[in-house]
Amino acid sequence: MNFPNLFKPIALGPLEIRNRLFNPPHGTSLGARGEVGEDLIAYHAARAKGGVGLIVLEGMALHETHAFSSGYLLANRDEIIPGLKRLKEACARYGTPVFGQLFHAGRSIRTSHDGSRPRVYSASDTPDERYRVVPVPMSKALIADIVRGYADAARRLEEAGLEGVEILASMGYLVCQFLNPAINRRTDEYGGSFENRLRLLREIIAAVRRSTSRRMVLGIRICGDEMTEGGLDLATMTDVCRALDGDGALDYVSVIAGSSATPGGWIHVFPPMAIPHGYVAPHATAIKQVVAMPVLVAGRINQPQMAEAVLVKGEADMVGMVRALISDPELPNKARAGRADDIRACVGCNQACVGHRLAMFGISCIQNPVTGREVRYAASAPAETPRTVLVVGGGPAGMKAAVTAAERGHKVTLVERGRRLGGQVLLAEKLPGRSEFGGVVTNLMRELELAGVAVETGIDADRRFIEERAPEAVILATGAAPRALPKDHAEEAQLVQAWAVVSGEANVGASVVIADWACDWVALGVAEMLARKGCRVRLASGGSVPGEQIQAIVRDQWIGDLHKLGVEMIPYARFFGADGETAFFQHMTSGEPILCESVDTVVINGPLQANRHLEETLAGFPRSMRVVGDAAQPRTVEEAILEGYEAGREI
Ligand SMILES: Cc1cc2nc3c(=O)[nH]c(=O)nc-3n(C[C@H](O)[C@H](O)[C@H](O)COP(=O)(O)OP(=O)(O)OC[C@H]3O[C@@H](n4cnc5c(N)ncnc54)[C@H](O)[C@@H]3O)c2cc1C
Ligand SMILES: Cc1cc2nc3c(=O)[nH]c(=O)nc-3n(C[C@H](O)[C@H](O)[C@H](O)COP(=O)(O)O)c2cc1C
Ligand code: SF4
Repeated sequence: MNFPNLFKPIALGPLEIRNRLFNPPHGTSLGARGEVGEDLIAYHAARAKGGVGLIVLEGMALHETHAFSSGYLLANRDEIIPGLKRLKEACARYGTPVFGQLFHAGRSIRTSHDGSRPRVYSASDTPDERYRVVPVPMSKALIADIVRGYADAARRLEEAGLEGVEILASMGYLVCQFLNPAINRRTDEYGGSFENRLRLLREIIAAVRRSTSRRMVLGIRICGDEMTEGGLDLATMTDVCRALDGDGALDYVSVIAGSSATPGGWIHVFPPMAIPHGYVAPHATAIKQVVAMPVLVAGRINQPQMAEAVLVKGEADMVGMVRALISDPELPNKARAGRADDIRACVGCNQACVGHRLAMFGISCIQNPVTGREVRYAASAPAETPRTVLVVGGGPAGMKAAVTAAERGHKVTLVERGRRLGGQVLLAEKLPGRSEFGGVVTNLMRELELAGVAVETGIDADRRFIEERAPEAVILATGAAPRALPKDHAEEAQLVQAWAVVSGEANVGASVVIADWACDWVALGVAEMLARKGCRVRLASGGSVPGEQIQAIVRDQWIGDLHKLGVEMIPYARFFGADGETAFFQHMTSGEPILCESVDTVVINGPLQANRHLEETLAGFPRSMRVVGDAAQPRTVEEAILEGYEAGREI
């Protein structure tokens, strides 16, 4: 049997679960005005079909002091019940039980119904460093009302047929704000001693137990360590778990890391690729040593081999995967069938999952456009008339287009000018700490193989070549490239392209300024590369912060690393020109000059140019022709793969 520990059943309270892989709670923004709609049902049904043992639904609001944002499911209203019922039934078809998570953010709330700042409440009026609010200390009457909110919401989950309820006591949210003496400065029975700070959580657990039957599994989610200044640490959380285990009311504890209270802690709530795989497992182990109930863990575990290792070492009893199943919902089935090589592994980029969610758009995956769009992209029909298709350009857009068209029965050839497939991703993976991003290409190469696409490298396709091949349809995915270096006001300076620094083709001096129009991964990566080589690096970016255009957690992590390396960052800088030793910028709002002296090399990270040449030479081409990805407009892998997928579906 493949992964024998992973596919061993386990009991959580009264419930037997078929395997030890669970899908932890994650906000999807796929709900409909606080209720469960078809998009959310289809999303979870796809994961249940993929073989995961248990699904825990996203954190749901349970009280009016938190039920602001349209991005949350609202379990404080009976209207949640019918949709939840349908979701549960859709998952039950595949034998997957569903729990719901109950969530109050306390002071960690920014949004409201109408854009005004809501009044937010916490244990005390202690502010944080992310939301920058000064909360109102909760009255005892409000505490009692919120505890009732948990109980009522849990009852609704049971009424909808869910098998369990999980109390979110993690990530610096309300329960943690009471647990943490640095935040909770109350002098009543909810503050001061350990027992008093634990009182709120105990009251919630007791109230939920009272409002639900013994059939309902009850668990909590905690952070083993909030991994931030002034956050709850492993010693405290071990004490909390020991005490709750002793009370005997819980069926499991689920362990993660991070905190909503600071930018540093927030990184661990959605750990990006810079954070090691499986790094929370030691915290779960520490908790497991002091409790009898099952311990669950999640955090950068994206392959069945890693999950199996956690179980074999006895670090936890179940292993959670969120992004790994966003990227490939079929991961459990593939692992069980001995097809682990076919898994489309998550690369930890945080782009279309966390990025979409935090902007309150429905989650998806840069590698898997079907995620979050299961209704729109319901089963891709085989082609009515199989055709010969030529895809030009072996970057992500061309690879995905070729795979999708071939899966539908077309006879597909993919041609690439370079020796290797991957396009710009071959550069992206060279940036420091970003080698995992190359997984996008590894995954697509496997998909090409499975779909039976004929791949030819070292071919620079032109009109003649295409006419000779005479395909019935052509997809152009020729990508983009940097524009020519600016010549005006820069005759005497050494200017080089950022791409040339990444590829190792450019030599740079000891003192470098990066003129960063794009505010993307490239400038951050080049800054790190050169700083690590010992250069003095100044990063002059066109945005309010370097990396402004990329997912905030990835950016924040990177900026921390650049700070450690001594990179100087200059915001709002528009590149003007350079002479022998000085680079000239203009402040984007004041218009004042910004001078960088003693500069050897200026690295240009400017706008790209779509490679439209082939499209232009094919004007009047009599067959079906589509242009996808950066060749249409330079953007990111997300749009490249999405457009490649759509072209492959439509052909
Ligand atoms: C250093 C770097 C880091 C990046 N980091 C990220 C990131 O973290 N996340 C993200 O989403 N995006 C990132 N990007 C951007 C991302 O890689 C691109 O948006 C994406 O690769 C575009 O895919 P594409 O297939 O449309 O084009 P490309 O990746 O540019 O691929 C086009 C391919 O077409 C081939 N080609 C062109 N003309 C012909 C022809 N006539 N015949 C045959 N072949 C041809 C090219 O050789 C190339 O392989 C990064 C880019 C760079 C440079
Ligand atoms: C888009 C997204 C939304 C999330 N929302 C929640 C949530 O509502 N409740 C929660 O406890 N954790 C939430 N998390 C954290 C995940 O449950 C999980 O701990 C984290 O993603 C690390 O696991 P992974 O590496 O398997 O993705 C969310 C994660 C993601 C990616
Ligand atoms: S978008 Fe990136 S981090 Fe999110 S699931 Fe896909 S590969 Fe993983």
